[in-house]
Amino acid sequence: MKTILRNITMIVLLLGAFAQVNASEAYTLLDTVLKSSDGKTAKVYLGVPLIVKKDMGKSSEVVIKGFQFENKIYSTMEKELLIAELDKGFKVAKKEANAVELVGTIEKELITENGIEVWEEQEEFFFEMCTQCHAAPSVAHHTMVEWEAVFGTMKVFAKLDGEESSYLLRYLKSNASNGLLKREH
Ligand code: HEC
Repeated sequence: MKTILRNITMIVLLLGAFAQVNASEAYTLLDTVLKSSDGKTAKVYLGVPLIVKKDMGKSSEVVIKGFQFENKIYSTMEKELLIAELDKGFKVAKKEANAVELVGTIEKELITENGIEVWEEQEEFFFEMCTQCHAAPSVAHHTMVEWEAVFGTMKVFAKLDGEESSYLLRYLKSNASNGLLKREH
């Protein structure tokens, strides 16, 4: 009986490991749309981490984790970075407190495993705008909240308009030490 139990445990563990290897981590390459199986949609911003569950040909089934406040999904409980907005009727899987999971499909063309590639254009703009007076600050050395605070002065210094500001601030926060990009340590 004991060995049977042990064998069953082994099989369960092996299956678990297999499932983990199968699901790969990736990011949205651009702002995109997540479609749920019942046809509802959610807007997902660029650079948002995804777990890819299944290859569906032109699209992939993915899971996105976040924290829900009304129809808005943030990367943290502190609402520092908006990562998705649910259209009417989009059903999320509730975890504990405000933690939720969004499940649906995204076009494969808009998914990348290379988290750096997502931000190439923004990075160029950052170097152009933010190295006129000092060396480029290290984006990953600040937290999202620090970026929010510093950026208030710097966007005026760099003479950015509203659209340029939100474009660049999203880059800074997404690449902050507690942002979206997972780094090797
Ligand atoms: C017109 C000149 C100018 C431009 C353009 C400029 N900065 Fe600065 N920056 C400064 C000065 C001066 C300081 C130091 C004084 C201060 O902190 O206000 C500074 C300081 C900083 C600091 C350090 C602040 C701290 O408290 O550690 C960061 C980070 C920074 N800048 C980021 C940026 C970013 C991002 C941009 C592009 C959006 C930018 N800067 C564009 C002049 C500029």
